[in-house]
Amino acid sequence: MKVCVIGTGYVGLVTGVCLAEIGHDVICVDKDESKVSSLMEGKIPIFEEGLEELVKSNVKKKSLVFDAETSSGVAKSDIVFICVGTPPLPSGKPDLTAIDDVARMIGKSLNGYKIILNKSTVPIGTAKRITKIIRENQEGDQGFDIVSNPEFLKEGEAVKDAFFPERIVIGSGSKKAINMMKELYGPIIRQDFDYASGNSHRKKQVPILITDSTSSELIKYASNAFLATKISFVNEVANICERVGANILDVTYGMGLDERIGSRFMKAGIGWGGSCFPKDVRALSYTAEEYGSPASILNAVIQVNNQQRFKIIQKAVDMLGIIEDKVIGVLGIAFKPNTDDTREAPSVTVINKFLELGAEVRVYDPIVRDYPDSMDRGALFVTDAYKAVEGADLMVLVTEWEEFLTLDFNRIKGIMSEKNIIDGRNFLDKKMLRELGYKYMGIGN
Ligand code: UGA
Repeated sequence: MKVCVIGTGYVGLVTGVCLAEIGHDVICVDKDESKVSSLMEGKIPIFEEGLEELVKSNVKKKSLVFDAETSSGVAKSDIVFICVGTPPLPSGKPDLTAIDDVARMIGKSLNGYKIILNKSTVPIGTAKRITKIIRENQEGDQGFDIVSNPEFLKEGEAVKDAFFPERIVIGSGSKKAINMMKELYGPIIRQDFDYASGNSHRKKQVPILITDSTSSELIKYASNAFLATKISFVNEVANICERVGANILDVTYGMGLDERIGSRFMKAGIGWGGSCFPKDVRALSYTAEEYGSPASILNAVIQVNNQQRFKIIQKAVDMLGIIEDKVIGVLGIAFKPNTDDTREAPSVTVINKFLELGAEVRVYDPIVRDYPDSMDRGALFVTDAYKAVEGADLMVLVTEWEEFLTLDFNRIKGIMSEKNIIDGRNFLDKKMLRELGYKYMGIGN
């Protein structure tokens, strides 16, 4: 099928390459011309395992092309994906400027029946809003159908999630559109495309859920909000563990053995961040408020998360007393491992607060090598974990990168000024570190 994907961010790029790999002809469009030329050369602006190879091989096969012209991309395709950003406004309400612009452009470029799929995470009712804008802007009376098709990929595992999703949700009232969607996603549903063969993530079959567009839009928000709730809940229990002398690792393990609760997404830590949870939980809470049904649980979930980041500061004060002039080595800046994304990363709050309290802060991340926008430039970037903790009074682990497990803690013992570790992810071997003479604090542990 001929597909146009508008927006080459995380979602657009991964969607485009996945559809090309399963046999469709894909044009990925982005208004940023320099990004388009880099992508044509196989240069990927984000760090995502496996993505670069797939882009290169599909560009070579000509099943994937990049273009800066939205109108020609739309005109050449039967199916058009909208994958543009919906960043939060200060109120928490998502900014739909990019969606509206794209809908106008699609309307002007319609030259026959097309399906317009919205993959961006959007407020309830956006499918109807897009329909209205396209109608207002189309010149003829070409038919079209709008489909809500939310994306559930996780950064760092995006390629795997695109090929081996847990479900495909289609929100549409049009039989024609639904049938075309089943055809488009056929290889994914059946899991019979080349890339799947021999892949350990291959599924027997991927469930497809057909519903109305409003329910589909809400499935996306409610899923992210539920996952964020799970983490905030566990973090709250971790804080109780610290008060009563229990161990959150055993508590969550014991809880997770109940299949109704499950063991995944139960890791206590310094809270959730990233480009999705903070934005989506706020957006759902905003929608709830707007429709006269205030979301008390969601508001508490946000509040618990905001406070959780400051647990690290409290623990540092408990360990060091006055923070001023102390040297602190921070390991990990990305909001989670295997990504270079620093949007709403807890590291930024923690580092800024340490600097505000007068500490000298050194930071290291295996992939992030530049200051996130909101990070105080007073922090010093170093090129390895050892340099971050040399002469330090405290090591703080913020992101659970695999490489931190293999650090030589015997060597570190000799170079730190004081042997203090705060493990914001309960990631390191507490027993081993205590035996080596470190003062170790985890979260609820
Ligand atoms: C999240 C969802 O997991 C995806 O399903 C969804 O498609 C995506 O948002 C999106 O809306 O685009 P992502 O933000 O990439 O994916 O990251 P997650 O792996 O879900 O982690 C989110 C945050 O929760 C991270 O800060 C992570 O450190 C934290 N987390 C996760 C915990 O603190 N504990 C856990 O047990 C799991």
